[in-house]
Amino acid sequence: MAKQIHILNGPNLNLLGEREGSIYGHVTLADIEQNCQEECARLGFELEFAQTNHEGDLVELIQNAGKTADGIIINPAAYTHTSVAIHDAIRAINIPVVEVHLSNIFARESFRHHSYVSPVALGTICGFGPAGYILALGALTSHIPE
Ligand code: DQA
Repeated sequence: MAKQIHILNGPNLNLLGEREGSIYGHVTLADIEQNCQEECARLGFELEFAQTNHEGDLVELIQNAGKTADGIIINPAAYTHTSVAIHDAIRAINIPVVEVHLSNIFARESFRHHSYVSPVALGTICGFGPAGYILALGALTSHIPE
């Protein structure tokens, strides 16, 4: 059976393409999903791709991935900087998690410099726009044993 990656996206990422283009560019989340589907197929992994604007839903998506997936890529968006619940959910599962941000959060407002997710992630990729998801797929899948 093919190994499975879940890519989870947090609040307002459904607005990519129309939201703050100077920061996030003009690629939509559907475009990112399509690119990730193609990359997963190339790497021989199955992909589940999800987005929610709700913190509790993100917690449940993490818990469910912990039961069925082999690894997670997560862009928690604003919850990165606020959510102990997401930090705890990641601690509670036993699969690797890669954190992704489109923008370089360290080059932005100081409230974005702290991440509750980074200390419980395998690693973090930020500042490379949509390519960050593809970089994260390479990093995560090379970490998952055959
Ligand atoms: C983001 C960065 C966060 O600070 C912000 O709240 C987002 C998107 C990014 O992908 O660059 O919504 O996670």
